[in-house]
Amino acid sequence: MGRRDKPILENVEIKKVAAEGKSIAYIDEKVLFVPNTVPGDIVDVQVTRKRKSFMEGYVTHVHTYSALRTEPFCSHFGVCGGCKWQQLPYDKQLEFKQQEVMDNLQRIGKVENSTICPIIGSEKQKYYRNKLEFTFCSKRFLTYEEVKTGGDIAPSPALGFHVPNLFDKVVDIEHCYLQSSPSNEIRNFIRQYAIDKGLTFFDIRNHTGFLRTLTIRTSSIGEVMVILALYYEDKAATSRLLDALKQEFPVITSLLYVVNQKANDSLTDQQIICYHGNDHIFEELGGLRFKIGPKSFYQTNSEQAYILYQKTMELAGLTGHETVYDLYTGTGTIANFIASKAEKVIGIEYVSEAIEDAKENAEINGIRNTRFFAGDMKDILNESFIETHSRPNVIITDPPRAGMHADVVATILKASPQRIVYVSCNSATQARDIQLMGDAYRVVTVQPVDMFPHTHHLENIVLLERIV
Ligand SMILES: C[S@@+](CC[C@H](N)C(=O)[O-])C[C@H]1O[C@@H](n2cnc3c(N)ncnc32)[C@H](O)[C@@H]1O
Repeated sequence: MGRRDKPILENVEIKKVAAEGKSIAYIDEKVLFVPNTVPGDIVDVQVTRKRKSFMEGYVTHVHTYSALRTEPFCSHFGVCGGCKWQQLPYDKQLEFKQQEVMDNLQRIGKVENSTICPIIGSEKQKYYRNKLEFTFCSKRFLTYEEVKTGGDIAPSPALGFHVPNLFDKVVDIEHCYLQSSPSNEIRNFIRQYAIDKGLTFFDIRNHTGFLRTLTIRTSSIGEVMVILALYYEDKAATSRLLDALKQEFPVITSLLYVVNQKANDSLTDQQIICYHGNDHIFEELGGLRFKIGPKSFYQTNSEQAYILYQKTMELAGLTGHETVYDLYTGTGTIANFIASKAEKVIGIEYVSEAIEDAKENAEINGIRNTRFFAGDMKDILNESFIETHSRPNVIITDPPRAGMHADVVATILKASPQRIVYVSCNSATQARDIQLMGDAYRVVTVQPVDMFPHTHHLENIVLLERIV
């Protein structure tokens, strides 16, 4: 069935925000997903997809804007993939996030009567990220309005963010409200330099062009890392660009580049070369110093990370006598953060470079009771590992969005710690895993923490206690 055969639904009232931040309406008991709307909007919708239980569509006309709406502050709102909730006031964003956690725990986790603590909002709602990745693209994305009004619409390069669902389209970003200075200045300088010097931007479809991606990391103690990814080697052009950057921004403490000739942009398997300064930056958190390499995971909202870790430690209820496992430890941030309150902490993670950073972070901070191991969780965390490293009294687990492998859940159940503190950036998979543990553990506390204002994302901490 082509689009022409699909109806336009008139005067549809958007009812609520559902999973993954999607706004929905109900049509004859069927769910209709409508992006870029908020509850209370009354709109006409062109249906683009029709299935047995749901439909999808886009707005063709707005009859009434919801009273909930607020004016988005960013000029790129609507086309850029980030900060999609700017049209909602922050207190409403928090309310919807809290609701999503509650829905997932009840519907998927089968958790009844759970008390959810009020979500902890982010004090900073702009410039809260310490890391951004921008993409170079030979053809700037043109908005519908630009095309309609004519003007200068000749192809021009862009350095910015992908347009959602369009892998080869990039919005040219002039100002991003996510990362503080000098992030905008560095990005705009590089773009202008490249245009002035005739350096080519990557053609994502045909894989041609020199400049590919730009990553900027900042830290609360003023250190700045810049990683420039290039598609091919051109030592002279690279040096000229990096020298110009170095001169313009003496604040850059780690200037790195990489030649990435793969089909995808991931740098985890690439050799990153240090051009100037250090091959890492430092961040400080809770009186500890953390070394962050170009491939290391580090929570992107440092100030909220501190609150997340404090809450995690509080819920772990440590007295100084416990053996704690910190599963999916990354660079060992949680493990090292809680170390002074435990007898010993075992961190496990599959990125070996992150484990090296974790060990170094322990050393830098004079922490002697943490041990770190690299490997896939489902392989490394088994009965014999637990026998060797002693049974955990407390397990802290912070898996990626997909949640934990069923084998890992089974091993945790066998290890039978008194408490499990489950930190997650996806409350749906978290609820699924909690349901698997439902016979042996009860949910005691649920604490959502907002790390990502103006998006539907959040972190959720759940404390589980052994029933018997
Ligand atoms: C959400 S991050 C948590 C990092 C850390 N707790 C922190 O706050 O910085 C999840 C981590 O799990 C790691 N990871 C993902 N899949 C894994 C697996 N199968 N086995 C071990 N570690 C894994 C990722 O590399 C990442 O560092």
